[in-house]
Amino acid sequence: MKKIKSGFSTDLERVKNADELEKIRVKYLGRKSALTAILRSLKDKSVEEKRKLGPAAQSLRREMEALLSNHSASYRFSAAGGERVDLSAPAKKAERGHLHPLTVVDEETQKIFSAMNFSVVDGPEIETEYYNFDALNIPPNHPARDAWDTFWLKEPASQKSKVKSQKLLLRTHTSPVQMRYMEEHSPPFQIIVPGRCFRYEATDVSHEVNFHQLEGLMVGKSVSLANFKFVVEEFFKRFFGGQNIQFRYRPSYFPFVEPGLEVDIKLGGKWLEIMGAGMVHPRVFEYAHYNPHDLQGFAFGMGIDRLAMIKYKIPDIRLFYSGDLRLVRQF
Ligand code: DAH
Repeated sequence: MKKIKSGFSTDLERVKNADELEKIRVKYLGRKSALTAILRSLKDKSVEEKRKLGPAAQSLRREMEALLSNHSASYRFSAAGGERVDLSAPAKKAERGHLHPLTVVDEETQKIFSAMNFSVVDGPEIETEYYNFDALNIPPNHPARDAWDTFWLKEPASQKSKVKSQKLLLRTHTSPVQMRYMEEHSPPFQIIVPGRCFRYEATDVSHEVNFHQLEGLMVGKSVSLANFKFVVEEFFKRFFGGQNIQFRYRPSYFPFVEPGLEVDIKLGGKWLEIMGAGMVHPRVFEYAHYNPHDLQGFAFGMGIDRLAMIKYKIPDIRLFYSGDLRLVRQF
């Protein structure tokens, strides 16, 4: 059997095509082959010999069959091109899926806010003028509207709403979800709203026509700016993991908050504008049919893309949407 095996290996090495392979199969496994003769002779052997020879002969047969079928597969694959496929070559590495860096940041922010008892809320990307602007205290013709370059949707004439504020647009920020949530829930509550937003703008390293924001809203009987500072500072400390961060609060203006402010953080020696925020404007509470004398709350909004750019030192927001695998593969 040793001889059979070594003869088989030598012959197999030299095979060049399917015909020769078939000849080898007949020679080593056919009816007249030495191995078949051994298997046939078993019936005349003693029980002891049978025990020794039988399994060895069977395993040799299986081994040769397997090698032959590997080779024959390679001839079948290469029949057209004539090229021999090396079935023993290591397989190409299958590529594993990756999370997009924005997904990583999105999940991380949700985890941190959830741990602080904030609920995660969702809202529509196609919004009405009412929720995106009016109910946030940005009436038509208010100059503040210029701050949000808007993609208005063309509606078929038949479906055009008579009510102006029902006009459709792609939401320019996640703030409209504040109103949608307040209409259906009673305080106290604290929520975050991650989501995609759109602006009709020229793109550059820090602007894209679509991007992501994270909105926050906390409302209760005595929710204060001090509460806001705690939540925001806690968030950034956890998000940037132990780095030494300084915070700066500057007065600013957004129609839906009063007072309004902007938050800067100092990271790696540089001050960075990171979010808009403020105390919910009483008029916004009125739109929600809340009593502004009973309640107060804070709201904030920040760019998820910007967070990801800072965290991972990505220089151009457009890279997130370029589909360039060289970026994604790093996560
Ligand atoms: N929605 C604002 C924007 O897109 C960001 C913002 C500012 C959200 C202040 C807020 C806020 O909730 O209170 O520019």
